Amino acid sequence: MTDISEFVDKCIEKHGKFLVPILQDIQERFNYLPEEALREVANRLKIPLVDVYGVATFYKSFSFVPKGRHVITVCLGTACHVRGGRRIVDAISRELKINPGETTPDLNFTLETVYCLGCCALGPVVVIDGKYWGHMTPNKVLSIIRRMREEAKQA
Ligand code: FES
Repeated sequence: MTDISEFVDKCIEKHGKFLVPILQDIQERFNYLPEEALREVANRLKIPLVDVYGVATFYKSFSFVPKGRHVITVCLGTACHVRGGRRIVDAISRELKINPGETTPDLNFTLETVYCLGCCALGPVVVIDGKYWGHMTPNKVLSIIRRMREEAKQA
C-alpha cells in the first residue's frame, strides 16, 4: 500500500462519503491533488473518476499540479492594478524567477494572481499563505519573502 492510498483510507474513515472534505485533506497533505489519490478516492467510494474530477475542477482552490509550501497571491483587479499590483508581481517574479501560475523548482513558493479579493480599499493586496497584506509595495513583499526564506533555512 502506498503513502497515498493509506492517506486516502484515513480521509475516507474521517469524512465518509463527503468528497469535498476528502479532497481538501488530500490537497492540504500533498499541496495538490495527485492523480493517484483521485483514482483511489473514486475506487474506494465506488464513484466514476470523472465525477471526482468534476467536483475537483469546480473549486478553484484545488490544484492538479504541485504547489509550493508558500502560496503568494497578488491581486490585479482594477483598484489594486492602478495602485501598483503589476509592479509587485514583477518584483516577485524577478526574485523567485517564476511567472504567475508557476512554482519554484524547490517547491517553496507558488505565485498566483487574482482579479479582486473584495477588499479594494486596502489595495494593492497580496495574500501570503492565507494572510492578507494591504497597501503592499514591491519592497515590503520582497522583505517578507526573504524573511520566509531565512526561516526555511533555519528550520
Ligand atoms: S481590486 Fe484588489 S481587492 Fe479589489
